[in-house]
Amino acid sequence: MNLLLSCNNLLFFSLLLTSNLLTLLVSTTFYSSNCSLKPHQLQTTTAAAVYPLPPPPVEEDDGDEQTDQTTQDLPPEFIAFTSPQKLPFGFNRNFDSDEILPPVGSPCRLMKDQLGRYMSYKVNGPCPDDELLAQKLLLRGCEPLPRRRCRAAAPRDAVEPAPLPGSLWTTPPDSSVVWTAYTCKNYACLVNRARDQKGFDDCKDCFDLNGRERHRWAAAAAPPPPSSLDFTIDEVLAAKPPGTIRIGLDIGGGVATFAVRMKERNVTVITTSMNLNGPFNSFIAARGVVPLYVSISQRFPFFDNTLDIVHSMHVLSNWIPTEMLHFMMFDIYRVLRPGGLFWMDHFFCVGEQLAEVYAPLIESVGFVKVKWVVGKKLDRGPELNEMYLSALLEKPLKNSW
Ligand SMILES: *[C@@H]1O[C@H](CO)[C@@H](O)[C@H](O)[C@H]1NC(C)=O
Ligand SMILES: *[C@@H]1O[C@H](CO)[C@@H](O)[C@H](O)[C@H]1NC(C)=O
Repeated sequence: MNLLLSCNNLLFFSLLLTSNLLTLLVSTTFYSSNCSLKPHQLQTTTAAAVYPLPPPPVEEDDGDEQTDQTTQDLPPEFIAFTSPQKLPFGFNRNFDSDEILPPVGSPCRLMKDQLGRYMSYKVNGPCPDDELLAQKLLLRGCEPLPRRRCRAAAPRDAVEPAPLPGSLWTTPPDSSVVWTAYTCKNYACLVNRARDQKGFDDCKDCFDLNGRERHRWAAAAAPPPPSSLDFTIDEVLAAKPPGTIRIGLDIGGGVATFAVRMKERNVTVITTSMNLNGPFNSFIAARGVVPLYVSISQRFPFFDNTLDIVHSMHVLSNWIPTEMLHFMMFDIYRVLRPGGLFWMDHFFCVGEQLAEVYAPLIESVGFVKVKWVVGKKLDRGPELNEMYLSALLEKPLKNSW
């Protein structure tokens, strides 16, 4: 059951830092395989019996991490923010306390060196232009980041955004972004980087709104021809009574083309995205849909039984530690309302992993399978035996608890 560890190559290493839509979808062919499963086979097995226990955490020796939890070397601004704050009117019954403890990710305290840099600024002044540092802290578990009492770096020559609906398919002006953190320094570079640059970048061709982005999830999908792994938004919406899919979440949604298409159908979708070598959050906002800057590690900031649909393409895959994925699947189930849909779009893994690990994991959560399509992922060669799973799963309308 050590399959996860065998995926330890450069690509998967890159994916470790990734929670955006990935552009690995080059060529897929429908394929009826041994990965298809026997439904409900393992429903009664406990998770612990089915999934391997995660290996013990590996200590990174950056030199800046200490297990010592004292506040001694912590930055004063960090202590100022995280110290208990007395409620001005005393004991509050809702809080069941007379104080608030402002939350930060517990690993923040272990990253003293980087945290020290992050929390060094002039109070009431401008913040340092340190997006990359902030994102590294966040991805390593210092999430939520502490608040700061300074003004975040912002473009000097900002202009008003393009108005709706044109903004949905318009590349925003370069002046809407602080480019420091990215290799590209303008949108022309981002639009052309799939052609011009070597090396792996998350969602490399996403910023080109006239390229593949234009056709994703659309009915008349353009080249390459759609495979049965490519569900369209309209066929997914048709699985439910008209108008009952109204609000949703797209996890790791790249430049939020999914949310844009849904907006065109009057469905409100929030898109989580990191800024991995591209201004994803700025771009999403400029299009006129809502970006949410949280990593895949965080509990979703929604109440139980609230969302009509959750979608995720490519992000939920075998790069995620299995136990973490199991927690995440249950969190998706939690935020979906009864009758809500989880569209798992191009989940990928290697051959037997699907039958041995992921199908039982997904089945353990309690979704009803509306669609379940398995296909081969061929872009890196058939010998790698990589598989895709696209599934449309429904939280039961009755007795979902
Ligand atoms: C499925 O597995 C069996 C036995 O392992 C093998 O004989 C068969 O060819 C496989 N079928 C496919 C479609 O891979
Ligand atoms: C979206 O809502 C507007 C305003 O209610 C309506 O005019 C329009 O037809 C709707 N579009 C779709 C695709 O349902």
